[in-house]
Amino acid sequence: MATNRARVKSVEESIRDTDEPGHRLKRHLSGLDLAVFGVGVIIGTGIFVLTGVVARDQSGPAVALSFVIAGVVCGLAALCYAEFASTVPVAGSAYTFSYATFGELIAWIIGWDLVLEMALGAATVAVGWSGYLNQLLGDLGIPLPAAIAGEEAVFNIPAVFVVALMTTVLILGIKFSSRVTSVIVAIKIAIVLLVIAVGVFFVEAANYTPFVPPAQPAEAGASGWDAPLIQTLFGFSPGTFGWGGVITGASIVFFAFIGFDIVATAAEETKHPAKDMPRGIIGSLAICTALYVAVSLVVVGMQPYTELSATAPLAEAFSSVGLPIFAGIISLGALTGLTSVVMILLLGQSRVLFAMSRDRLLPPALAEVHPRYGTPYKITIFTGVFVAVLAAVVPLEELASLVNIGTLFAFLLVSIGVVILRRTRPDLPRAFRVPLMPVLPIVSAIACLWLMANLPIETWVRFVIWMVLGVAIYYLYGRRRSRFSPHGAAEREQAGQTPGGAR
Ligand code: ALA
Repeated sequence: MATNRARVKSVEESIRDTDEPGHRLKRHLSGLDLAVFGVGVIIGTGIFVLTGVVARDQSGPAVALSFVIAGVVCGLAALCYAEFASTVPVAGSAYTFSYATFGELIAWIIGWDLVLEMALGAATVAVGWSGYLNQLLGDLGIPLPAAIAGEEAVFNIPAVFVVALMTTVLILGIKFSSRVTSVIVAIKIAIVLLVIAVGVFFVEAANYTPFVPPAQPAEAGASGWDAPLIQTLFGFSPGTFGWGGVITGASIVFFAFIGFDIVATAAEETKHPAKDMPRGIIGSLAICTALYVAVSLVVVGMQPYTELSATAPLAEAFSSVGLPIFAGIISLGALTGLTSVVMILLLGQSRVLFAMSRDRLLPPALAEVHPRYGTPYKITIFTGVFVAVLAAVVPLEELASLVNIGTLFAFLLVSIGVVILRRTRPDLPRAFRVPLMPVLPIVSAIACLWLMANLPIETWVRFVIWMVLGVAIYYLYGRRRSRFSPHGAAEREQAGQTPGGAR
């Protein structure tokens, strides 16, 4: 009996569950589909908005280096995700990996934590979408009232609309969602390439000097609640500009890379997960990193960094060189591009909740798969409603950095978990192996912790409150119902399934 042990769910058990009647997903996706999904969720508000803010306030023209640093941190984590996803090809990503290594409590904690990355992330991007839409409508002279649209709405109707639309696409099937994503990704990549190919002719070398602007003391306001945790712990400030600014910039543009890990949640819908998962995860991240570095170099070359726009830097850079028509095309492309980010964040969230329900940590009825569409429709609707409510009424600007901390925490555990699973289960077939084990995963874990430490104390306090709430819910509900509890085991036996067992 595993009641008082770590309640580790074996990898074999997780793989067996993917065949559970009524909870079986359709295997439709290829390696290319996965890479397209990856690019579909990665390229979003990060590159279309943050480039300007970070260049202006933190890194100067060296924002491109901030992208490189964040890309390297993500690349290390991506290697760990790729090994896990090729070894445990089960929906749920970091949640499932944690169940196989750390046990049920940590698995639940990480599942709960991923709500910050995916549901909160989807709501944040949906609100950003509403902002872009209203800006475009404003340019056409027909803006919607600020109370119902834009980034400061009291009840955000366009944000609810985009969430509802994307939820519907997801319910209609993974293949259909993948086709929609392909179209959106094609548009998005075309826009990014357009920025690079046209913008490069308007680059002025003078805008690159100084490439790393001289360091300035941190702003007087950056103390107490707003100060990075690291400043309070060690009594120093990362400051703005200089190399410190480049690094702080990296912890902000990290948001632009969020999403490659979500590819792993589609493992059960992939035809050959062992070989396709690593390709999808690492391939999408590599493509986006290259595009980000090129775009940011072009944009800071087109305008002095001090003049970059904080809301639509790519579009504004083209307006500034007298090409408003390109600015319009870029804004329209960004608006289209953000829809796939919302959709795939919803997809990831629904698949994590799906895996948790199948494990009885959430009500199992939620994990039912639609007989015709082959998608977990109940959990997808549940996720869509939750995200729509968040996007409609919660002031998300304040909460956006919770998305970063939640994601980094998942990366941290996956980096440690991959080392543990190599030791506890060296026998498992691994189609992809992290090189230089255990050095790379350890460097990855340290890098994630370090970026987390650069986030404000305020974010940490909210994060801890969210986690404490999650642990309370686990002890009140999940622990008593899971496969490892007498109640959960009896329920599964009754349903004619093998009861779970601890190693
Ligand atoms: N990486 C995604 C974006 O930048 C979340 O919007």
